[in-house]
Amino acid sequence: TPLSHIRNFSIVAHIDHGKSTLADRLIQSTNTVADRDMKAQLLDTMDIERERGITIKANTVRIDFRAADGEDYVLNLIDTPGHVDFAYEVSRSMRAVEGSLLVVDSTQGVEAQTLANVYQAIDADHELIPVLNKIDLPASDCDRVAEQIEDVIGIDASGAIAVSAKTGVGITETLEAIVQHLPAPTGDIDAPLKAMLVDSWYDSYLGVVVLVRIMDGVLKKGDKIRMMQTGASYGVDRIGVFRPQMQNIDALGPGEIGFITASIKQVRDTKVGDTITHEKKGAEEPLPGFAPSQPVVFCGLFPVDSAEFEDMRDAIEKLALNDASFSYEMETSAALGFGFRCGFLGLLHLEVIRDRIEREYDIELITTAPSVIYHVYMRDGTKIDLHNPADMPDMTLVDHLEEPRIKATILVPDEYLGDVLKLCQDRRGIQMDLTYAGSRAMAVYDLPLNEVVFDFYDRLKSVTKGYASFDYNLEGYRQDNLVKMSILVNDEPVDALSMMVHRDRAEMRGRAMCEKLKELIPRHMFKIPIQAAIGGKVIARETLSAMRKDVTAKCYGGDATRKRKLLDKQKAGKKKMRQFGKVDIPQEAFISALKMD
Ligand code: GTP
Repeated sequence: TPLSHIRNFSIVAHIDHGKSTLADRLIQSTNTVADRDMKAQLLDTMDIERERGITIKANTVRIDFRAADGEDYVLNLIDTPGHVDFAYEVSRSMRAVEGSLLVVDSTQGVEAQTLANVYQAIDADHELIPVLNKIDLPASDCDRVAEQIEDVIGIDASGAIAVSAKTGVGITETLEAIVQHLPAPTGDIDAPLKAMLVDSWYDSYLGVVVLVRIMDGVLKKGDKIRMMQTGASYGVDRIGVFRPQMQNIDALGPGEIGFITASIKQVRDTKVGDTITHEKKGAEEPLPGFAPSQPVVFCGLFPVDSAEFEDMRDAIEKLALNDASFSYEMETSAALGFGFRCGFLGLLHLEVIRDRIEREYDIELITTAPSVIYHVYMRDGTKIDLHNPADMPDMTLVDHLEEPRIKATILVPDEYLGDVLKLCQDRRGIQMDLTYAGSRAMAVYDLPLNEVVFDFYDRLKSVTKGYASFDYNLEGYRQDNLVKMSILVNDEPVDALSMMVHRDRAEMRGRAMCEKLKELIPRHMFKIPIQAAIGGKVIARETLSAMRKDVTAKCYGGDATRKRKLLDKQKAGKKKMRQFGKVDIPQEAFISALKMD
């Protein structure tokens, strides 16, 4: 296909604003899928999606469209993940296309997630076509939403297309707008091959499948290729496009988007953003801006039943095979035994992986407090990247610490603004901006990531009754007065409960932790001190009193069966004590104790 007849685009939208429904309509109306196949087709993609879980990054489809000018065009849609955790993948897919449809639900309006993705699209120099969806609904208000798009995003929305992805109204107009308003790709067919590695995943039949966008040159079946970042070489077994099912073709030229397979063993060998070139007469320079996605949130995952450790290792290795952004290494904890220290792109990513281990592999897990990476500058001039508070060196050897900060954007209806500002304040946030658009406020905050990774989303949702939307970008590291707080139960430090806190908040957090633990740990036959400490200094303390020796004393001798039951219970309790030999901390304590409310 000549470059002038190709259009590559993505769809930017907030969750539930209708991205998938619109994509299905575009495919259906161009007969890319015959009507009778539509149902089966979509089911297929959904199965793959389910199988691939959240790691699914790009859903791609090639659409043939005969425009009003009588010419035949090839439209390539790359779907992008909506969630903030996958910002790097979003930015990669955006660099692979020239324009975006900006889909906004005309009954709702612009949300924080829409904003974050729009900025990515603008960064990638996209031409944007605003699409107002769900106009079939009575609550639809296109004028208000178009005005909001102009106010909040600052782009011209006068040409916005009114669409109902449900009924099909406006679909042809959308396809025409793609042809008319989006630029054709550019590229040199005679230059050395430069193909962008947009995404990759594991397919049980084909092995690793790589989604590519050709920038320059031509990629043919049988070619010997080289990944410019990893240096690895492969022979191309198969080339194809998605319609949306896979269809083999012989070659891909400039501006085109398709997939290749090349006997690549694992997804880890394919770095999203890498440049693929020919082994011989390859390109000199890779495409700009390669920055692999790095885990930012870490936590310990331990099997509740230590006998399941090997099964858990199996599960983790399998999951990692298909998810290059998930990292893990073995960890041992005095309190929790053998487990893994795992790194994630964000909290959603953490939850997804944890759920999959629990559901798909049937292994019950204990999750320790999520932590971010701290930069620890030692007095001797060395620097440590601290992933686990348990590894914090002695404070007297430390010069200073830095923590990661984020820029958070929160959109919220006016009436909840006060609560949102208070929440951000409580989490050591610094207000950067506060603006209004209609009856909604947009607050921009500079926040420490460690204050957000735990239960910030949950708190935000609860104080705004679910009406706030939230997004963030990592901004960089900044020095602050941070210390490691240890928790001692019965005078023993419990490594899995230690955490990094700001010095000014340590007493408050320490007191709250001790109180929570006092509630969560059952009484024992002896008195148990619960303490929070910084270095050797205790900053908070609670005491869990001992269980009464003679539990039947308060029964006044009366009811014999009741007496019997209580004695049995006491015996069972004793047995458990002997088994553990020390204090029995229930597993839910590890996560509940850390919640701040
Ligand atoms: P995620 O996949 O969660 O990101 O959502 P999405 O943005 O892809 O939205 P999706 O297409 O799943 O649509 C969300 C809901 O809105 C679904 O229940 C759709 O049936 C519905 N919907 C989408 N478009 C329209 C429309 O034009 N009119 C009406 N009435 N409902 C729509």
